[in-house]
Amino acid sequence: MKSVFSYDSVELSENGKELVIIDQSLLPQQEKFIHLTTAEQIFYAITLLKVRGAPAIGIAAVLGVAMCMNRFKTRKMDQFEKEFLRVKRYLSISRPTAVNLSWALDRMERCFYETKLQYEELPEQEAIEKIKKELTAEARSIKLEDVKMCLSIAENGCSILPNNAGILTYCNAGHLAVSRYGTALGPIYYAQQQGMMPKVYACETRPLLQGSRLTAFELMKAGVDVTLICDNMASIVMSQGKIDVVLFGCDRIAANGDVANKIGTSGLAILAKHYGIPCYTLGPTSSIDFNCKTGSDIVIEERPSYEVTDMYFGKTMAPQGIKVYNPAFDITPAEFISGIVTEKGIFKPSEIKKLKKLI
Ligand code: MRU
Repeated sequence: MKSVFSYDSVELSENGKELVIIDQSLLPQQEKFIHLTTAEQIFYAITLLKVRGAPAIGIAAVLGVAMCMNRFKTRKMDQFEKEFLRVKRYLSISRPTAVNLSWALDRMERCFYETKLQYEELPEQEAIEKIKKELTAEARSIKLEDVKMCLSIAENGCSILPNNAGILTYCNAGHLAVSRYGTALGPIYYAQQQGMMPKVYACETRPLLQGSRLTAFELMKAGVDVTLICDNMASIVMSQGKIDVVLFGCDRIAANGDVANKIGTSGLAILAKHYGIPCYTLGPTSSIDFNCKTGSDIVIEERPSYEVTDMYFGKTMAPQGIKVYNPAFDITPAEFISGIVTEKGIFKPSEIKKLKKLI
């Protein structure tokens, strides 16, 4: 499949010493790349949503760990190990809801200790160099695996789309949110390239407008027929028969099939059921957290009030000092999900246990 963009949203420089991201908080006005060289810069890029989207933050964190360790100068293994664990733990708390972050960082920790064990006979400085090399290779392969997973999700997801499908999507689960192509937007790009002419309704996604700033931007760039709607317009477009299917991403899927995704997703899924419209979540199987029995075990991030009162408005849109509740995600109960589209196929929420054996 042809990529929509000539760049990836997260890249490690060739020498492994800089993390380069497109600053998503500036889109669509500016396509500006920033070069990050410290763990603190990566932490703030993630918390301030300069890089965002569950898979993209996992990828930024692992490429970031590799970058930080490549820059760390020491001849002592214990210092090197201490710094690795500091950076890993620090980045793992940058955002709580998406499982991709801890999943990817845990892979880096396994890589660190396996390599350390493999080269324990070597002088410490040589073993450190081997670990740096392996961490860099592991981080790059996590990104590459994500590209392949997105391609499979795109193909699998396209199989449920009719020609000229009317699709409602939420937040941004596209190229910007992953390594390449996207999860929920992947099948749309795939269908577009097959000449199937999908027609997308993108909800703007209050309060941070990932739908209007990012999804509308991506889809327009790819020449997809996209119409922007305010979040409270979803019901009318569904009632008018404009929507054949609802597609959205996921930040974490519990073992019972409950799905955490951008705040507002559950409302759309409930509406879709009312109108008899199938509703799919799309994501890699690594988004399933078998340690969370149900959605109520998933930690929902709460974000600052200024995002609701001030951000992306020309002037403040609420009275000074107003109390604000700003949860960033919600849980869609499994009963409202028609299927989970993964790189391994499409599953009913009740089939998650079967998936465990496949992973
Ligand atoms: O707060 P965000 O913008 O990181 O939220 C993103 C979402 O909710 C996405 O739908 C999810 O991370 C999947 S991205 C492929």
